[in-house]
Amino acid sequence: MSASVPIVRTVADLRAQVGAWHGAGLTVGLIPTMGALHAGHLSLVAAALARYDRAVATLFVNPKQFNDPADYAKYPRTEESDAAKLASADAHLLYCPYPEEMYPEGYATNVSVSGVSAGLCGGARPGHFDGVATVCSKLFLQSGADGAFFGEKDYQQLKVVQRFVADLNIPIEIHPCATVRDADGLALSSRNQHLSAGQRAIAPAMHRAMTAAASAIGGGQDRALALEAAKSAILAAGFDRIDYLEARREADLSPDFASGETARIFAAAFLGDTRLIDNIPIG
Ligand code: PAF
Repeated sequence: MSASVPIVRTVADLRAQVGAWHGAGLTVGLIPTMGALHAGHLSLVAAALARYDRAVATLFVNPKQFNDPADYAKYPRTEESDAAKLASADAHLLYCPYPEEMYPEGYATNVSVSGVSAGLCGGARPGHFDGVATVCSKLFLQSGADGAFFGEKDYQQLKVVQRFVADLNIPIEIHPCATVRDADGLALSSRNQHLSAGQRAIAPAMHRAMTAAASAIGGGQDRALALEAAKSAILAAGFDRIDYLEARREADLSPDFASGETARIFAAAFLGDTRLIDNIPIG
């Protein structure tokens, strides 16, 4: 365990460090985050350390991916405790850029991915995936890292990143990592800290309902009926509103797929003001 993790805040300092590692023949894995780190993020650091010689975490609350200014304002900012967690996880470097470093005066470029960003969170949060694709392409190009690690909890985000990396020939390998869950099934998320004790008790109902629907569909039950039953169960458990609950093909997130094709159930639902998302494989 390291005592502290070195922090850099400029592209020049980030490139100098990664360049020095590359010059010494060392490989570098990147873990992009917006902070408020939990065990899910730290599992990405562990995966990076298992695959690469050096692990670089990034912490930037990206204004371009929030379509609701209130959501951006209330996003937790916990740099000091995040840096301590990264040190305990043996990360080698934290890149924590100033907003002006990422989006200087006159900044005018947007990375927009069609297809996989349609519907689901892309439908519910217009512009969100443009913001994600834009900031991730900048982080990949700024760092020159060899690989980057993304949790499958944000599965649509993962598909968006894989798409633009392939389309733009960005020389980085994308590593998907399994969702980390609490013992009761709730997917770890920085947003879980906004839940009251009562809401936290209700929250795992979404994963339970999705699991039941996934095994029903996998067992041959009518897809629409199984999804309707899951929606009813989520609302009956105490969720306030469902944004979406849908089955999509895993490869391209198309809603039109035949039974037997590899697919997932995706859901987003609100407990009060807190929006939780999850996805699980069918079958
Ligand atoms: O998943 C996140 O935390 C963010 O969307 C990411 C990938 C760090 C981009 O800001």
